[in-house]
Amino acid sequence: MPEGPIVPDAISSNGSYPHSPHLPRLRAGVVGCGYWGPHLIRNLHEMAEVELVGVADPRPDRLEYVRRSYPAVAVFPDHRELLRSQVEAVVLATPIKTHYALAREALLEGKHVLVEKPLAASVDEAAELVQLAQERGLVLMVGHTFLYNPAVRELRRLVREGELGRIYYGDSARLNLGMFQRDVNVIWDLAPHDLSILMYVLDQEPVMVSARGSTCVQAGVHDVCYLEVLFSGGTSAHVHVSWLDPDKVRRLTLVGDRRMAVYNDVSPAKLRIYDSGVESPRPTDNYGEFEFSYRHGQIVIPYLHWREPLRLECEHFCDCVRTGGRPLSDGEQGLKVVAVCAAADRSLAEGGIRVPVGLPSAALVGAAGKVVRGPAIA
Ligand SMILES: NC(=O)c1ccc[n+]([C@@H]2O[C@H](COP(=O)([O-])OP(=O)(O)OC[C@H]3O[C@@H](n4cnc5c(N)ncnc54)[C@H](O)[C@@H]3O)[C@@H](O)[C@H]2O)c1
Repeated sequence: MPEGPIVPDAISSNGSYPHSPHLPRLRAGVVGCGYWGPHLIRNLHEMAEVELVGVADPRPDRLEYVRRSYPAVAVFPDHRELLRSQVEAVVLATPIKTHYALAREALLEGKHVLVEKPLAASVDEAAELVQLAQERGLVLMVGHTFLYNPAVRELRRLVREGELGRIYYGDSARLNLGMFQRDVNVIWDLAPHDLSILMYVLDQEPVMVSARGSTCVQAGVHDVCYLEVLFSGGTSAHVHVSWLDPDKVRRLTLVGDRRMAVYNDVSPAKLRIYDSGVESPRPTDNYGEFEFSYRHGQIVIPYLHWREPLRLECEHFCDCVRTGGRPLSDGEQGLKVVAVCAAADRSLAEGGIRVPVGLPSAALVGAAGKVVRGPAIA
């Protein structure tokens, strides 16, 4: 992974990441063209700075879709043919259990990699990928798409600049009916979004997690889960993820001691800032004086210069490959998210106990790529 500053806030006034138009086009390929792959293919195909060389998928119907939609793009039933072609970078949009093997193969072939979330299916796998990318000087980026969402970026600014005050807690919900997965539970499928958003906006590391949930539809696969995540700065957050809810909900509430904010991704007004709060009463023996004072002020909906987050993510990947920059959602962030999911799985299996999150920073990734566990917090 290239050293150097992360480029998170290097976003220009028109909402895009800075490009280097004088550089040659990036030759890129996509592996996996199921549900999500076509969105990546469309964006990469539209980008002037990218030459979409090829798409690999073992399913003939998916290759036929690519042939029809993008006649100039080569199709490969075997991803190894794509890796052996002239591509410099690959984007992996395949099932979670395949991420490690495919990303490893691509890095060993000297390709920069953007892998869909979550980075891998275990902490050891994720740590090995981070280490491999570092050793080879290649970009390893994870598709934590919501970090490229203008509403999430504005929420981070509000927190950093103290507009909300001290954050009491966060509450995140990602619910709808579907899409059920067979090989991973709902935490691995949906929570990487909530976790990456929380880490980014709070600018804190997850240190402890507990999880409870239900296995309603498929035996042994949790489809509804509730996580409590404790962060390094003392903030706690609840994350509710579900494939079994009648409503589509994509919402994060942050409650601070000055203001409160609600990021609702399915609303046209994606971000609302509430000038609301409560003052606790001074300690007194007199019951008549013991009153909370509530503040119900204005609700502000800030203007956001909107661009498709996935496009910004693809532009950022391209830019990092071209300039040697470090991605905002780099392999290390992917590793931390995987570490929370793994700790949450353990908690689920042990009745919801609090489980410390292995803190996988560069310093904690041992020589063999094993993650050293962080200290337990009472
Ligand atoms: N960032 C987001 O908002 C977002 C949204 C949806 C899905 N995703 C992620 O995208 C990834 C793919 O999800 P999906 O819903 O598209 O899955 P999917 O099952 O619909 O599609 C996966 C595709 O990968 C192909 N594939 C499997 N093994 C392959 C291999 N070795 N080489 C080439 N192709 C292979 C399959 O044939 C299939 O077409 C997952 O990691 C998922 O978490 C991200």
